[in-house]
Amino acid sequence: MSMFDVKEVYRADERRYDGMEYRRCGRSGVLLSAVALGLWHNFGGYDVYDNARDIVRRAFDLGVTYLDLANNYGPPFGSAEETFGRILRQDFLPYRDELFIATKAGYTMQPGPYGRGGSRKYLLASLDASLKRMGLDYVDLFYHHCMDPDTPLEESMGALAQAVHSGKALYVGLSNYSPEQAERAVQILDSMGVHCLIEQSRYNMVAREPEHGLLPVLRENGVGFSAFSPLAQGILTGKYNDGIPDESRLHGKSIYLTAEKLAPVIERTRRLGALAAQSGIPLTELALRWALRDPAVTTLIVGARTPEQLEQNVRAAAAGPLDPALLGQIDAILA
Ligand SMILES: NC(=O)c1ccc[n+]([C@@H]2O[C@H](COP(=O)([O-])OP(=O)(O)OC[C@H]3O[C@@H](n4cnc5c(N)ncnc54)[C@H](OP(=O)(O)O)[C@@H]3O)[C@@H](O)[C@H]2O)c1
Repeated sequence: MSMFDVKEVYRADERRYDGMEYRRCGRSGVLLSAVALGLWHNFGGYDVYDNARDIVRRAFDLGVTYLDLANNYGPPFGSAEETFGRILRQDFLPYRDELFIATKAGYTMQPGPYGRGGSRKYLLASLDASLKRMGLDYVDLFYHHCMDPDTPLEESMGALAQAVHSGKALYVGLSNYSPEQAERAVQILDSMGVHCLIEQSRYNMVAREPEHGLLPVLRENGVGFSAFSPLAQGILTGKYNDGIPDESRLHGKSIYLTAEKLAPVIERTRRLGALAAQSGIPLTELALRWALRDPAVTTLIVGARTPEQLEQNVRAAAAGPLDPALLGQIDAILA
């Protein structure tokens, strides 16, 4: 090992578990950090490796245990898992058992008939490929990324159950399932002797769909919930309230955040920004504390372009429940 490697050796903060809330995931033995780190953006093959590594280190030092990946995160597809695998090898092998690592398959990963969807063929081969890219023997959680209407749900759930029975995934979950699809999938998994740990969908102040059906179904069935994009890809930090900053996902021409997505929500976001200023609580903090107000929400999967953003988000979420009067004012804006 060279002198530089020695200097680089990572030692996790001994007080990493002191400030983070851990929430029970549905009716399971698992606790997840109330804030999770998503590796959708900023961890791909074209991103700066040292920055990605710093974000994961900072996350772990702040008590984040749940890391959220998918086969196709990058770009290019697969590269976020490769980046994470490298970080794991360099810094986290001594801490593997303290991490809850999730990946997914469902959206397009490769050309041809076996590169997307919900077939047993695609899901199980994809899980093997994810394990290889990350250098893992098993993941803690394997999600079906999106329901495939052309594959019998029994086949997709059978593949998830097989992932558990083979030991390649400790738990399984669903993502972007409707309330009805989720309920059926949970029942099918149950019949195969596997409890569905969690469902993952978009949930934030300007995307409240899970409140109408999905969250009640999950609560009833003892399934946890991971909320993705709790800051609406950054919109709910207020950064777009007065234009588009140079350093931002929208300016960076992400195919996932476009001016068309901003337009319908910007007026409400500006009003939320005014309320935030009036209440003395930054909008980012308001958005995260709001999203955690329901205990059925197990964890918020935030993204971060820098370690500082991640730290702000973790500290914001840790500030505890919002005052009911303030929740009422927020509701009035969102109505
Ligand atoms: N299951 C699914 O289908 C699905 C879909 C989408 C996402 N996800 C998961 O959810 C994760 C999070 O999604 P997301 O990245 O959209 O989450 P998000 O937390 O709503 O947005 C993250 C982005 O907002 C900006 N931001 C975050 N904190 C900030 C702060 N304190 N100050 C200023 N700007 C800040 C950053 O972008 P800029 O600074 O670059 O503007 C950051 O990359 C993903 O990584 C993925 O794991 C899952």
